[in-house]
Amino acid sequence: MADSRTRRAAPTRRRETVGAKRGGSAWAPRFAAALITLVLAVVVFVAVAADSARSPGPNPGGAPDGQGTPAETATATTPAGEPSPTAPPPTATPTAGPDGTVVVTCGDILAPVDKVHRLPADCVPPDLVQLPASASAGGAQYLRREAADALLAMFDAAREDGFELRVNSAYRSYETQAATYNYWVQVNGQAYADRTSARPGHSEHQLGTAADVGARGLFLEDFAGTPEADWLAENAWKFGFVVSYPDGKEHITGYAYEPWHVRYVGRDVAEAVHRSGLTLREYLLQR
Ligand code: DAL
Ligand code: ZN
Repeated sequence: MADSRTRRAAPTRRRETVGAKRGGSAWAPRFAAALITLVLAVVVFVAVAADSARSPGPNPGGAPDGQGTPAETATATTPAGEPSPTAPPPTATPTAGPDGTVVVTCGDILAPVDKVHRLPADCVPPDLVQLPASASAGGAQYLRREAADALLAMFDAAREDGFELRVNSAYRSYETQAATYNYWVQVNGQAYADRTSARPGHSEHQLGTAADVGARGLFLEDFAGTPEADWLAENAWKFGFVVSYPDGKEHITGYAYEPWHVRYVGRDVAEAVHRSGLTLREYLLQR
């Protein structure tokens, strides 16, 4: 889309220049165009500089899915080190960035977040709460309140069916995701990392509504094919969750099969996705 807009814009600029030469007082539009160009250049420069200034946190330490770096320690119900427990004002409308990615609204639980759509770097979801230790496989884990309540209800139902589920990794800040992704690039190389770990801003974990669910202390990579994974696949939608990266859908989702990664979207949407047979990404993009 960005390319086609660029191609369409070029003739327009040429026509304006030619017209200006014909009129005798061309300095005003030229001056305005130069001023706009200068302002845009400054805005882009400031945005890029701000992005580069966000250095990654400590080495994630190597939990499976990359994911689980329990680096964020608990203080009450707010992740330590986060700038603010409240979300910044929502982005007005999704806008394409200079790199072709589209920035989505911070705090929108139905925002598509994938290799194209990303959250603002400073997006910290509102109402993050810490999950009880009994629901965590290790470290302090956070989800948005509604997602946390739904997850605990799902874990209760799983327990009644004989399965003890645990969260290996839930909310991850932009900085934690950057460290996680970079870690997996170091370990497995960039091509493989891009199939299994999202780049910062592009992870559903930054939404505060996604969780990596495991059981019995298994590495997430060993979760596939377990009775717990089967239970999660069959029942997550009843509690408002969707398995974001199903088997055989990498060409659509952009990621290899992750039976452990669920995202909360509310019961109605989760049921609709379940009945549609679509991936969550397809469903959200066609809404
Ligand atoms: N593993 C998923 C794609 C993530 O890093 O968000
Ligand atoms: Zn995940």
